[in-house]
Amino acid sequence: MPRPRGPHRIAPSLLSADFGAIGAAVEAAESAGADAFHLDVMDGHFVPNISFGPALVRAVRRRTSLPLDVHLMIESPEKYLAEFVHAGGTTLDFHVEATSDPIGLAHRIRDLGVVAGAAVKPETPISTVEPLLDVLGQVMVMSVHPGFSGQSFLPEALPKLREARAALDARSSSAELAIDGGVTPETATAAAEAGATFFVCGNSVYAHGDVAENVARLRAAIAQGARVAVQ
Ligand code: DX5
Ligand code: ZN
Repeated sequence: MPRPRGPHRIAPSLLSADFGAIGAAVEAAESAGADAFHLDVMDGHFVPNISFGPALVRAVRRRTSLPLDVHLMIESPEKYLAEFVHAGGTTLDFHVEATSDPIGLAHRIRDLGVVAGAAVKPETPISTVEPLLDVLGQVMVMSVHPGFSGQSFLPEALPKLREARAALDARSSSAELAIDGGVTPETATAAAEAGATFFVCGNSVYAHGDVAENVARLRAAIAQGARVAVQ
């Protein structure tokens, strides 16, 4: 009898929020039942966009005590780990494509007292994170090419989620399996079905309509997929 998986967590991505009213964006999502926040750090080198650094993470930390999932889309992530932890990050996700020593980096993140996450771009196979699974608290499968919010979900992420789920289950790992990019009420069900437990949602929370209604719609779509996943 398969065990129900979960809990399933929704992490609004603040890249899609109004930076001029970031406190209000945090409060709206938190009162809508968000489980964490996702912060996309981009350096204009690893990805063709520049977003924000530790100062914004610190500002968000002042407004919430929820976990802060910091997605480092930067070159030389090892140089900035301590700064993002001091700013309030509780998970640091590095890209396996951005380091020649992913195991060492994961250990350094853990040694700072936070959760180590490893993210893979759409073209990067899950086999690149398998040697790290015993050290990781999160595996993040990208379902868009990193750099911008509001892109469409790439369905090739689904077999990668299934593969990562099987690898985590084979180790009885309780690490989160995160999906990031184009997660909407239309795509979240399939991602949950494929074994995702952590749903990064940018535009589907903040771009249109009411934040509370958007979170509720995402929650319902995830629950539907989660039911199928355990059947
Ligand atoms: C893309 C970022 C994502 C992005 C998600 O590079 O890593 O976290 O903000 O935004 P949506 O959900 O709109 O694709
Ligand atoms: Zn992200």
